[in-house]
Amino acid sequence: MAAEYTLHINGRDYVTSENKSILRYLRDDLHLTSVKDGCSEGACGTCTIIVDNQAVKSCVLTTKLARGHDIVTIEGLTEREQEAFVYAFGAAGAVQCGFCIPGMVMAGAALCRRTPDPTDLEISQAIKGNVCRCTGYKRILVGIKRAAAILRGDEQIDPSAERGDNYAVGEQIFRVDVRRKVLGFGKYPDDMTEQDFPGLSYASAVRSKYPRARVLSIDASKAEALPGVVGVLTAADVPHNQVGHLIQDWDVMIAEGDITRCLGDAVALVVAEDAKTLERAKKLVKVEYEPLEPVRSIEEAKAPDAPRIHDSFFAFGNTVELADNVCQSRHVTRGDAAKALAESAYTVTQRFTTPFTEHAFLEPECAVAAPYKDGVKIWSTDQGAYDTRKECAHMFGWDDTPERVVVETMLVGGGFGGKEDVSCQHLAALAAYKFGRPVKCRFSRQESLYFHPKRHAMDATFTLGCDKDGNFTGLDCEINFDTGAYASLCGPVLERACTHSVGPYKY
Ligand code: FES
Ligand code: FES
Repeated sequence: MAAEYTLHINGRDYVTSENKSILRYLRDDLHLTSVKDGCSEGACGTCTIIVDNQAVKSCVLTTKLARGHDIVTIEGLTEREQEAFVYAFGAAGAVQCGFCIPGMVMAGAALCRRTPDPTDLEISQAIKGNVCRCTGYKRILVGIKRAAAILRGDEQIDPSAERGDNYAVGEQIFRVDVRRKVLGFGKYPDDMTEQDFPGLSYASAVRSKYPRARVLSIDASKAEALPGVVGVLTAADVPHNQVGHLIQDWDVMIAEGDITRCLGDAVALVVAEDAKTLERAKKLVKVEYEPLEPVRSIEEAKAPDAPRIHDSFFAFGNTVELADNVCQSRHVTRGDAAKALAESAYTVTQRFTTPFTEHAFLEPECAVAAPYKDGVKIWSTDQGAYDTRKECAHMFGWDDTPERVVVETMLVGGGFGGKEDVSCQHLAALAAYKFGRPVKCRFSRQESLYFHPKRHAMDATFTLGCDKDGNFTGLDCEINFDTGAYASLCGPVLERACTHSVGPYKY
């Protein structure tokens, strides 16, 4: 007989025979979606809960180990604690995207239960395992301190602040979404479950094993035969196999015979009735590759015999043939820099390099899509609903009828430019349309890191001139961008780099 684990959660007992992470149990079985999943591996703190009055990351605690312990999620905090944190975080301006906030609140609440009047140092230590990418820790620290003061009775809640009675220019006001973000009931796409979408299935891509390799064959027969698998899609199932925010150079999936460009490339899309079957089925998709030498740097890409990353791309209607690996170029001129530098008393030339930079938004990419009228509706976490619609309509071959795709943006757990391209939205939409059922597509943290473009690595050489008194006279620079496998926003960002290269100075 399978072992049974009795779990005491928010004052009630629950029994399960499954040994899995408490995070998954809370979210999937009890639908306590205030507990956020930012990484599933103990690195981010978004999943923090209180266990025996201590803050614990629920993704690294199992149902087996949690037996006999007192578990509290935000839903189980006392009403007084909930109201204290809503008010304190609202007043401190401690909420932005909100994805980290329930975890921060739980870390703060656990501290306040043990230490009613915590010092700044104690608060800093209490949240040291919780990452916030957008608010900044200072305001969160102030929020926890104010919540502690309210809980001690040293500060009172002013209900007019949340109501916005003093709403006026110059007044400090609450964000309209403070309550739902602090208490975690605001919905990000991953918070939508079978309760919202009966028959919800789950999609995930099999991604390339090599950064650059020819896909020789894809055999999904074993995965398709697995009970619970809805189906497996490949490039052959995509009406128009290219998407992209400004330039359509991004294969929805790499077709048999084609060459991958990075580890984030999708080769097949598996759809299953539950997440467990999905992971098993992905392992059954057999892909044969011919590994090829990747192009790793600007130097390698510029070499005369460099393999071509793309032969051409589409820019909404027009095909642009490429002669080399240069995706975009910009030339910004103001005045005669060469003359100014030649006439300068002094010049200095220096080379600077910057690495790729990960956006590190706390919420991994996620979308839910469902058949809708004669097309699909997508609930997504992205930075532009209309851009997502345009890209998905393009994939379906519906450029002339983009209204067949409807996009509703849910709460977005950070983006910072990293969620401008479609990532999972088009995959969820494709599966929902093909199989006629609601589908969720959510990236793991690792998949997110592999997939989305990074801020471009740059290699720049600047020559700056000045007169004998040190006043700047001119600047010339060449900046090379590594945009990775796909164009994404390289054109506008390159232009920004050029126009900003002179800094805020008078020449
Ligand atoms: S630490 Fe648990 S989800 Fe990131
Ligand atoms: S508010 Fe903390 S990650 Fe966005």
